[in-house]
Amino acid sequence: MRRPVIAGNWKLFKTIAEAVSMVNELKPLVAKCQDVEIVVAPVFTALSRVADALAGSNVKLSAQDCYWEEEGAFTGEVAPKLLKDAGCGYVIVGHSERRQYFGETDQTVNKKAKAAIAAGLNAIVCVGESLAERESDKTFSVIETQIQGGLSGFSADAFDQIVIAYEPVWAIGTGKTASDAQAQEVHAFIRQLIARLFNQSIADAVRILYGGSVKPDNVKGLMAQPDIDGALVGGASLKADSFAAIAAFNAL
Ligand code: PGA
Repeated sequence: MRRPVIAGNWKLFKTIAEAVSMVNELKPLVAKCQDVEIVVAPVFTALSRVADALAGSNVKLSAQDCYWEEEGAFTGEVAPKLLKDAGCGYVIVGHSERRQYFGETDQTVNKKAKAAIAAGLNAIVCVGESLAERESDKTFSVIETQIQGGLSGFSADAFDQIVIAYEPVWAIGTGKTASDAQAQEVHAFIRQLIARLFNQSIADAVRILYGGSVKPDNVKGLMAQPDIDGALVGGASLKADSFAAIAAFNAL
């Protein structure tokens, strides 16, 4: 019922030429994955050229961040409508690296997600606890605060354009994936929370991705969990063959 999403977050990697060559390699490898939504998120400077390279394929384009104003004196920022203009259908909002290094808060995540949706983009809204928070049994309260703050004021309609990504900070780039059961437990909690804050049909429909050291050899177990609807992949999304293998999790 929920169409899986496999999204690659390329972070600060790849020149324009490298990004274009990666998607040219990727397209034929994933051409048969029609039952999965496949998304790649290159750096801003490569977006428009990657959009051209993806035209006519089943791979969609995402940015890694956006600002919430449409235009104005905001040096260095990029507005959602400009991402749309560059060919994006998605934008990642509130990634833990943005929260950790660039002062992102639940309030800015909320503004960015709202602006992205208003501009017609799908927002991939990220949440996740740190190792210290998990070890002090604060996982659920941290996630609840992030979801409540990040999604505050959203209408039911907006949920058509929202994807949630649960990314435990301790699992990002560390090779330590959450176990299938650990991930499922938080995904189920998020879905119940959405039912409580919004309603059951929104909770049943919203896609919740897992992120944090997803690789071809652990994706199948994660995707077999009832509340895991896809993956946000960092390191393993940089190479066409490993990302394609993750997108083909059904065939593994
Ligand atoms: P990773 O990154 O797959 O390299 O752990 C995931 C992410 O940060 O989205």
